[in-house]
Amino acid sequence: MNNTVSGFSKLSKEEKINWIAKAYFSNPLEAVVLLKNYWNTDTKIQQLHDEFIENTITNFYLPLGVAPNFLINGKHYTIPMVIEESSVVAAAAKSAKFWATRGGFKTTVLNTEKIGQVHFIYEGDVVKLEKFFTATKNKFFTETESITKNMQKRGGGILDIELRDKTHLIENYFQLHATFETKDSMGANFINSCLEQFSKTLKEEALLYELFSDEEKNIHVVMSILSNYVPNCVVRAEVSCKIEELGEKKIENPHDFAEKFVRAVRIAEVEPFRAVTHNKGIMNGIDAVVLATGNDFRAVEAGIHAYASRNGHYSSLSHAKIEDGIFYFWIEIPLALGTVGGLTSLHPLVKFSLEMLEKPNANELMQIVAVAGLAQNFAALRSLTTTGIQEGHMKMHLNNIINQFEASHEERHLIKTHFKTNAISHAAVVDFIENLRK
Ligand code: MEV
Repeated sequence: MNNTVSGFSKLSKEEKINWIAKAYFSNPLEAVVLLKNYWNTDTKIQQLHDEFIENTITNFYLPLGVAPNFLINGKHYTIPMVIEESSVVAAAAKSAKFWATRGGFKTTVLNTEKIGQVHFIYEGDVVKLEKFFTATKNKFFTETESITKNMQKRGGGILDIELRDKTHLIENYFQLHATFETKDSMGANFINSCLEQFSKTLKEEALLYELFSDEEKNIHVVMSILSNYVPNCVVRAEVSCKIEELGEKKIENPHDFAEKFVRAVRIAEVEPFRAVTHNKGIMNGIDAVVLATGNDFRAVEAGIHAYASRNGHYSSLSHAKIEDGIFYFWIEIPLALGTVGGLTSLHPLVKFSLEMLEKPNANELMQIVAVAGLAQNFAALRSLTTTGIQEGHMKMHLNNIINQFEASHEERHLIKTHFKTNAISHAAVVDFIENLRK
């Protein structure tokens, strides 16, 4: 079979599925049945999902779990998490409970500035360009008024526009570097619309600028786009308690634990191989809440990892110290999130998640997400510096193995009872199931 197709996007959903099933599957009927099993029986919900993207053939499920008992700035939250990795939600819930009895999480939004740039090429006298920019700057604001009107009513808008000379990087390369306040929306559409208008104004006004030569009048815009790097849209989350208060079942000697913990964080601060895994653990919490609340996890990931490298080498996002007998653990991360617009008002489960969080504004959501990251990091480091992570991981992984073997209700009970007191490994569970079935 020739596995290429033309006009695919114009086929009906049914036709698309049939084409894929025939092109790639030895049992096309089975493939079709599988895809249709994941369709929602409520046609309205299905249509909504079909229309989120192009060429939708079915839904791809991820679990939505919840981690209760988060105490943040004195208020209790149950945090929604969308994630496939076992033990992440359990770890978050454990951290939440641990810190709820030790003062809870404290958070502060440090700033909320977003960034967008018009990248352009100007071949000419830099001083003239600077004069042109000063003379034209106001026009960038007035000509975007129809776009910024509503945002201004909500207290947001364009904060500033700068001309940046980047000719030391690329010949004749300049930028309009603009900063924005987008309040409760993530702001991507708003920022990109403003930038495209800036680009138009830039080109039109340059053509009219009398001091420019014909060559200088001809500004070439390469592109206009927001930046997902938002180092001035940062939230801080922290926990602290007296070292003695760290004691619990897993932490017999709180002083040793605190020191080992701080050292583990220090290693992630200086050693990129460890920093990446350390931060991956933080992203387990962050991405899960970002997804559950309908935000763009790719933007968040890209921005956070750039921030982790801001001092010239990739480093830990979290930090810890012991001072005057107190254990401090904190994180500062850039997060551009929205609680209005985009998926937030479209996806029923996103609406559900936001309602469960008591309809936070974007600043509150930034704080909740940062806490989820810090909690996850605390749980990972606590396990790593005490029992190791495999104990907890394998307990959760047991379910996956049981499901893989399609264990019956009775088998499931026997397996779970046996592995309450026996070490779990993939081989041990497989052996046990095979013995049961002999
Ligand atoms: C696993 O998903 C995350 C950890 O590897 C994070 C870490 O090592 O800190 C446990």
